[in-house]
Amino acid sequence: MRNKISIIGAGFVGSTTAHWLAAKEMGDIVLVDIIEGRPQGLGLDLYEASPIVGFDARVIGTNDYADTADSDVVVVTSGAPRKPGMSREDLIKKNADITRDCIANVAKYSPNSIIIMVNNPLDAMTYLAREVSGFPKSRVFGQAGVLDSARYRTFIAMEANVSVEDVQAMLMGGHGDEMVPLPRFSTISGIPVTEFIAEDRLNAIVDRARKGGGEMVGLLKTGSAYYAPSAATAQMVEAVLHDKKRVLPCAAYLEGEYGLNDLYFGVPVVVGAGGVEKVIELTLNDEEKALLQKSADAVRNTLNTLKSL
Ligand code: LAC
Repeated sequence: MRNKISIIGAGFVGSTTAHWLAAKEMGDIVLVDIIEGRPQGLGLDLYEASPIVGFDARVIGTNDYADTADSDVVVVTSGAPRKPGMSREDLIKKNADITRDCIANVAKYSPNSIIIMVNNPLDAMTYLAREVSGFPKSRVFGQAGVLDSARYRTFIAMEANVSVEDVQAMLMGGHGDEMVPLPRFSTISGIPVTEFIAEDRLNAIVDRARKGGGEMVGLLKTGSAYYAPSAATAQMVEAVLHDKKRVLPCAAYLEGEYGLNDLYFGVPVVVGAGGVEKVIELTLNDEEKALLQKSADAVRNTLNTLKSL
């Protein structure tokens, strides 16, 4: 039997996630949105591409959560995107209301699903999703680290003039400008990245990666990025559905790891059929720990704002 994947929110991130997943034959796809016609239209459009591209995936769009029943994985992209000058945190009130409603429906119709959160502010929305769903922490996690590290890997490959495929890079922290790219855990085919790129250039790359989302908002002006965010999301869905045990940076619920408690935060995890199957604890140096703490403080602040709403 095919897997069933529901994607909540048929904006650019949701619809391009559907595109990547369908092309990879990851399962049947249900695209949900409150706007009448949009998910139906996009779902049918994508379905109609299948004879050309050659994938077997039933893609439907709907305004009714009942159609998502018994999904294996649910991806939540719904919410307002950022406009120039807005931080991810500025979105909190609107997106919290949307998230509460959406997660209540997901928990009702797909009580055994794995939820992957993609909307912003990411770490806080993932926290809210766990709270509203009542799901175990392993079955609710957030996307951003895969996206952020992909940006970082792209910039490293551009600078070193090597294939992106040979760049591995780890990045931790919240999905905000305080995130922590980790050059010490970044390599080009196993060779430390510092062998290829001088320190000042690497610092500039780290800075660009941290502000990568804002760079896109500044360019696009009417919304935020979607190709890379959706590709990142699709990779996480694949890790779950194929039980791949991928080691990916994801927003995971922490209970003491890295000295942090009751917080969703970007850390390396093992992703497989159970969702987040393990949090990997790296030994960090003092400088890395300090940067991580700063990022955790930023996430905690947003969470406090969420709790005070
Ligand atoms: C980004 C937004 C989507 O990083 O958070 O592109």
